[in-house]
Amino acid sequence: MKKIMINGGKTLSGTINISGAKNSVVALIPAAILTDGVVKIYNTPHLTDTENLRRIIELLGGQIEFGRGELKIDGKNVKNCVIPADLSNQLRASYYFMGALLGRFRRVDIYFPGGCKIGARPIDLHLKAFKKMGATIVRDGDKYTLVAERLHGAKIYLDVASVGATVNILLAASLASGETIIENAAKEPEIINIVSLLNNMGARISGAGTDKIVIIGVDKLHGATIETIPDRIEAGTYMMIGALVGHDFKVDNLIPEHLDTLISKMRDMGVDFKLDHDSIVLNRVDQFEPVDIKTLVYPGFPTDLGQPMAVLLTQANGSSKFVETIYERRGGHFPELVKMGADIEFTNTKAKFKGPSKLKGCDVSASDLRAGAALIIAGLLAEGTTKISNIEHILRGYEDLVEKLSSVGADIKIVEEN
Ligand code: EPZ
Repeated sequence: MKKIMINGGKTLSGTINISGAKNSVVALIPAAILTDGVVKIYNTPHLTDTENLRRIIELLGGQIEFGRGELKIDGKNVKNCVIPADLSNQLRASYYFMGALLGRFRRVDIYFPGGCKIGARPIDLHLKAFKKMGATIVRDGDKYTLVAERLHGAKIYLDVASVGATVNILLAASLASGETIIENAAKEPEIINIVSLLNNMGARISGAGTDKIVIIGVDKLHGATIETIPDRIEAGTYMMIGALVGHDFKVDNLIPEHLDTLISKMRDMGVDFKLDHDSIVLNRVDQFEPVDIKTLVYPGFPTDLGQPMAVLLTQANGSSKFVETIYERRGGHFPELVKMGADIEFTNTKAKFKGPSKLKGCDVSASDLRAGAALIIAGLLAEGTTKISNIEHILRGYEDLVEKLSSVGADIKIVEEN
């Protein structure tokens, strides 16, 4: 089994370049098959998730070339076929082929998607929207068949401002007839990125970044190019590393406005940082103030940074409270941090931290992607050796993690061990 081994306690200095956003590119790639033209996606990260989407595109007959950072997808020969369970369950974003194939072929056969096990992750809002747009849905166990003889616009109110449902509706509605309105749409920066690509392809979409998006369906989309936005969650993760163990630690190529809530909390905690228009330089300090955190949909504090943030809270001088409001079970990192010496009382969605705690390296396991990110941060901070198992979760979302951290002085490597 592959593990990440970290000898902690080192001061890290230098520059980390932030990659393209995982949660954007996993929507941009399926969107490319809405056209029989060529779509080029710049700043594409090499991740297990992008590799799995590539396998689905190839299964569908699309041609895909992936150079360093540049992904070229030619949708000319794309045909519709069943996306089998062993591909769809590799990642959450496989479900974007629902919207994309429904848009292009008016039919999709696909199995339930995978993704991090962080509580129930239903797709009822996606299905309800497709139904409103004229699709019939047949479910056979985990297999979903959606058919729409006539795919038409609809007025859709999302009970939850779901990122996935918003993207899936955008994909299908771009090629539906008439007008679709999404109310209570997700406002995440990744939504703006996908809408930019769709509009570059000839779609007619307005309102991205607000809670009301209007899509006027068109008959055909054409080839286009897009640049993936910087990964705000990767950036936030490295910012926490800089705050805890950095000296002249620069996180470069980020969009500070996408990280407003984290920056504001770091300011409240007394983190030493200097912000520029696309970078931030951090230095560790001896003492942090405690803060309370509640995760919320964008522009609130991102759930995906809640787990990495936990490590910073273990170092605050006093008591901090944490509440997770998006997922039911995003606390897989808590018992592992306690093993390392943190003082945390926790339930599935709430935690109380008492700090500062001295962390000590030990053997821990990554229950999911961002829990793994938290353990990486903790391992860098801890005294001694930390070995993290189940690292496939981490490698799904952080490009060149070991290489990037080694380049700033971390003692980190992947080892093969049982
Ligand atoms: C995206 O997941 C991200 N994944 C997640 O990142 C992120 O945590 C999440 O958005 C919120 O920001 C990708 O982009 C691939 P949602 P998604 O639909 O789209 C409920 C990471 O660590 N809901 O916005 O699946 C749902 O249960 C990952 O990178 C329904 O009830 O999230 C959740 O409580 C993890 N019914 C809430 O909405 C539905 O039909 C938000 O989910 C859909 C969602």
